[in-house]
Amino acid sequence: MAQQDQLDKKTLPKHLAIIMDGNGRWAKQQGLLRALGHENGTKSVRVVVEACAELNIPFLTLYAFSTENWNRPKREVELLMKLLVSSLKKEIKTLQDNEIKLTAIGNLDTLPKKVYKELLEVIDKTKDNTNMTLTLALSYGSREELVKTVKEISLKVKNNLISRDAIDESVINNHLYTRNLPDVDLLIRTSGEQRISNFLLWQLAYAELYFTDTLWPDFTKTHLFEALLNYQNRERRFGKTSEQLKR
Ligand code: IPE
Ligand code: IPE
Ligand code: MG
Repeated sequence: MAQQDQLDKKTLPKHLAIIMDGNGRWAKQQGLLRALGHENGTKSVRVVVEACAELNIPFLTLYAFSTENWNRPKREVELLMKLLVSSLKKEIKTLQDNEIKLTAIGNLDTLPKKVYKELLEVIDKTKDNTNMTLTLALSYGSREELVKTVKEISLKVKNNLISRDAIDESVINNHLYTRNLPDVDLLIRTSGEQRISNFLLWQLAYAELYFTDTLWPDFTKTHLFEALLNYQNRERRFGKTSEQLKR
């Protein structure tokens, strides 16, 4: 079992992103309603957030609700939104105690008013915290983000605020929801699914991918350390040869 002291503090990911999947299957396994799977999933969120803050991982991004998740049964969507409000209210103390700044990415205008209001409140209250930036991806879809980005940049070109030739990777980066975040170093997805599900397509370009069969409500600190240890044993070559890196 992986332990915290096995980790090399110097080579931890700067930006960790997690697709928290498997709440429904966890509930089914226990003979419970899906709602209880989501409720138990929030416990894993707290454990992982606290562990990352303790490890001094500067950026943690959690996929909490995708643009496609709006297509779930109305009752489940309502429950997830309710759970979000209650978690935000409950966890503000965890955020303040650990000096965590909360931010959010996604089409936030589509969130119910109550969720949006609570979210903005916690974002505002934690804005001066500097230990870690926790970003919630809410009503987030990477393709939607890219469409929005293209529209914004093309409008600027039309209005002569930027020339077409000046468009480069950094201009695109600066128009994404993630403009204040570095590229993702490590992506973890729980529950055995090996897909990206419309999450951070551009930002994951050179991320290391880690898939585990563990369902999200079962995901503990030990599972997190396991993933981080696995990450630290990889060679990130960014297109170069292994020999070049050793020079
Ligand atoms: C992840 O768990 C939570 C959200 C997508 C909101 P799921 O609800 O997708 O759980 P499974 O995949 O059905 O097991
Ligand atoms: C991805 O999980 C979205 C979140 C974890 C919020 P899904 O369960 O919605 O993904 P698919 O539909 O199985 O790809
Ligand atoms: Mg799922």
